[in-house]
Amino acid sequence: MEKLVINGGTRLTGEVTISGAKNAAVAILPATLLIDGVCTIDNLPNISDVKISCDILQTLGAKITWISEHEIEIDTRDISCSRAPLDMTSKFRASYYLLGSLIGRCKDAQVGLPGGCNLGARPIDQHIKGLEALGAKVDVSQGKITAKAKKLVGTSVYMDVVSVGATINIMLAATLAEGTTIIENAAKEPHIVDVANFLNTMGADIRGAGTDVIKINGVKKLKGNTTYSVVPDQIEAGTFMLAAIATKGDILIKNCVTEHLDCVSAKILEMGGNIEGDGDSLRVWINKRPQKANIKTLPYPGFPTDLQPQIGVALAIADGTSYITESIWESRFQYTSELNKMGAKISAHGKTAVFEGVKTLSGAPVYATDLRAGAALLIAGIVASGTTELYNLNHIDRGYENIEEKFRKIGANIQRVTE
Ligand code: EPU
Repeated sequence: MEKLVINGGTRLTGEVTISGAKNAAVAILPATLLIDGVCTIDNLPNISDVKISCDILQTLGAKITWISEHEIEIDTRDISCSRAPLDMTSKFRASYYLLGSLIGRCKDAQVGLPGGCNLGARPIDQHIKGLEALGAKVDVSQGKITAKAKKLVGTSVYMDVVSVGATINIMLAATLAEGTTIIENAAKEPHIVDVANFLNTMGADIRGAGTDVIKINGVKKLKGNTTYSVVPDQIEAGTFMLAAIATKGDILIKNCVTEHLDCVSAKILEMGGNIEGDGDSLRVWINKRPQKANIKTLPYPGFPTDLQPQIGVALAIADGTSYITESIWESRFQYTSELNKMGAKISAHGKTAVFEGVKTLSGAPVYATDLRAGAALLIAGIVASGTTELYNLNHIDRGYENIEEKFRKIGANIQRVTE
């Protein structure tokens, strides 16, 4: 078993370069199944969710050539199978994008029920509603989802909840459908825009991504023959911004899209931090103890749930009492009991947690309960006096490239140790 051993009490200073976005990459890779050709994807993050996505594409007949650590060429001319291996698809959440892509390309799709972080109930009713509206018959049984259609025909789909995954899945299925699909009450996250940009670069006709109405005019074919570069990871950038605040540090975050981080910047300013930005980089620093702040997680452009645990660490040591309301996932406060082992004073009940700021944290053995909880506990270990041992690294490796190396470069004392 691997663990991170963190000797804390460090102020983080220096430069960090942000990788390509996990949640864009894991949608763009299955989206290549809609192309009858060859394309190149650059700025892919080197994380385990990307590796497994590539492995699955290969089992379906895609030919993948790694050009460099972050760039691949994918040839999807000979897709021979529309049924993804159940054991592989159930390893991560984003495997549900294979449904939209495979039904779009082959009119037949099968994937295992998606796995991923345990954040409470993760229904897929809106994905199914969208695919059925386009003409697919969807069956969920025996741990798998099967979708079949004679043809897909564009229509209007109103999303009952704002869902990133369902918005992207319907966009994928509608790209090669006959006629026009309109998604109303669509999610607006940066990775939705990125997937639409990718598809449009390959020949799709998608308008309005980034607003709550997306219009997809079905096209006959996506041609490929182009290189696409994945957008920088909003959540990784936000993680380092909040690490600067929690450690009273000074970090220059390079290769980020600053406007994707406006909601985080606003909270950092409220907490007494400083921000300087110039379009693709942000300097974040603070010279004193952060001030309390209240947070409510919301769909983009609201404060992202995927940064809630990381800001929770800064609030755990802030001056005053802060409140966080989690409105996306029902079980995203599991990290608070781990933080309490380190001396934090947090009480979480249902959708709300109360953070009574303490002056300092102290090292302890802690367990990453999910991906973002893992990043938060790593930051907590850097803040804390003494030694923290962080376990369950598989969660962190799913979504952060070289995380300990990136933190080491800005001053953290972290070692990965195999027990
Ligand atoms: N929901 C439904 N029905 C559906 C789909 C979603 O009720 O059919 C509900 C969910 O239960 C949740 C809300 O709608 O309460 C939003 O869920 P959404 O579908 O937007 O989440 P997701 O697509 O499964 C993606 C990210 C998550 C991130 C959420 C919210 C990927 C692969 N995952 O999940 O990222 O928390 O959007 O922004 O893009 C992470 O990266 O750590 C992570 C968990």
